[in-house]
Amino acid sequence: MKSLALEGCVALVTGGGGEIGGAIARRFAMEGASVLVADISLAKAQLVAGDIERACGRAVARAMDVAVPEDCAESVEAAVAAFGKLTTLVNVAAAVTPNGNVEELSLEDWTKALTVNLTASFLTAKHAMPHMRANGGGSIINIASQLGQIGVMRRPAYSTTKAALIQLTKCLAVDYARDGIRANSLSPGSINTERSTSSWGSREEAQRMRGPAHLLGRLGEADEMAAGAVFLASDESSFMTGADLLLDGGYLAFKGEMALASVRS
Ligand SMILES: NC(=O)c1ccc[n+]([C@@H]2O[C@H](COP(=O)([O-])OP(=O)(O)OC[C@H]3O[C@@H](n4cnc5c(N)ncnc54)[C@H](O)[C@@H]3O)[C@@H](O)[C@H]2O)c1
Repeated sequence: MKSLALEGCVALVTGGGGEIGGAIARRFAMEGASVLVADISLAKAQLVAGDIERACGRAVARAMDVAVPEDCAESVEAAVAAFGKLTTLVNVAAAVTPNGNVEELSLEDWTKALTVNLTASFLTAKHAMPHMRANGGGSIINIASQLGQIGVMRRPAYSTTKAALIQLTKCLAVDYARDGIRANSLSPGSINTERSTSSWGSREEAQRMRGPAHLLGRLGEADEMAAGAVFLASDESSFMTGADLLLDGGYLAFKGEMALASVRS
């Protein structure tokens, strides 16, 4: 009989009340994990944890502002207190940063992006490591972005923090492989969530305008990111660490060709 992929896992999911974080938390629970769903919005975290409990899974909701260092430490301890250990850390929370080049962007926006998108993952990892080491290993999954791998017009804060998150992940992998702790990033393409579609007016319009920028002709779905996160958290990826799992519908592969086409024409 097939066993569940994440049976025995205990996961902390930051930004777990959001669309991708919520999909990851729900899917982790379906695969047998116990999940601490942490979000700056307790109401959103409770909604996700409630869904999981109604489906007979194990979840606890927690208010957490990843920009507050004490919250990063306490949320790790809360997962251990609730479920006895911590095997899996998924850093999903990200700030919404206004678009603008370096002249237009305020220092406050830049610093907020760094704090929420990058420093928080440093802090949660810092506090998770002793628990994971005590278990004989674990898996860290940092949600980066395809935009962390290219220069992005008027989004220096977001894309720089995501590039740095991919690099932080590699460093975690190097430093902690001997403890059996794997660290990988997951880079989504444009996903059909409010965050990436709201500027287009509607999700339909976002699909129409942004879908064709992907080889597969559409935006990705949060559930498709959750499937990747399950893979990274489970033993199915036991020989993978320090890597970036690019789930972008062919966006980066296609983007190069589009750029070339515009130079040729
Ligand atoms: N949607 C996309 O197209 C896309 C593409 C690439 C990468 N990503 C990344 O995926 C992740 C999730 O994106 P999403 O579309 O689900 O967005 P979302 O806004 O639905 O989810 C983000 C969650 O983080 C929470 N959050 C924000 N600030 C926080 C803080 N300081 N402390 C704790 N929680 C906080 C929000 O309340 C929200 O629930 C982000 O890291 C984002 O950068 C998204």
